[in-house]
Amino acid sequence: MIVTIDGPAGAGKSSIARQVADRLGFEFLDTGAMYRAVTLGAIRAQIEFSDVDALVAFAGTADLKWKGCRISLNGVDVTEEIRTPTVTGAIRYLADLPDVRRQLTLQQRRIAAGRSIVTEGRDQGTDVFPDADCKIFLTASPHERALRRHQQLADAGRHMAIEDVIAAQDRRDAEDRCRPVGALRPADDAVTLDTDGMSPDEVLDRTLQIIESAV
Ligand code: C5P
Repeated sequence: MIVTIDGPAGAGKSSIARQVADRLGFEFLDTGAMYRAVTLGAIRAQIEFSDVDALVAFAGTADLKWKGCRISLNGVDVTEEIRTPTVTGAIRYLADLPDVRRQLTLQQRRIAAGRSIVTEGRDQGTDVFPDADCKIFLTASPHERALRRHQQLADAGRHMAIEDVIAAQDRRDAEDRCRPVGALRPADDAVTLDTDGMSPDEVLDRTLQIIESAV
């Protein structure tokens, strides 16, 4: 069984997808981490972002492995390094390339083959798993997402002005919605869950209800 959870940055997809996977005894796949890992690898290999052929070749040979919630690239654990602002700011150079997306799509389908899985990202219900058993589009207003992100950063000891959080979020939303392939949008058969004003427990309960009614 495949459950897809797509949505914009800051909607809480990872945390909900992880909890849902735990509750149902499913695997969990964070596809954003895969885009992050190949971006980090390209930066470390000093590939120019304008060198499309080199980026595609790199993504094609990138060996991404999951061990629980930890991800490794070519045998090296990169779980923490993929979350830096430098990586976040550069992901679009790879995520915008249809040939890179094709490589990662194949890897995602390979990981899911024969398993029950909750997979989260931007294109899971639209392009990667169009026949998924249950598709959820998890969203929240830009204001609420920015407030949550601001709080997360503060909890981690990183202080950023709310205006800067909003500007960075707007930029990412625009990039994610506009790419030629794999753009962020709800699948036609997805259930949209707007989490404004909902507690994390309410979001989890509602998500589990949606999944139960889909199967
Ligand atoms: O989910 P996360 O915020 O870690 O994803 C980082 C970036 O990777 C997204 O902003 C998006 O550009 C890209 N991504 C993607 N397709 C996915 C998952 C993530 O293009 N399935």
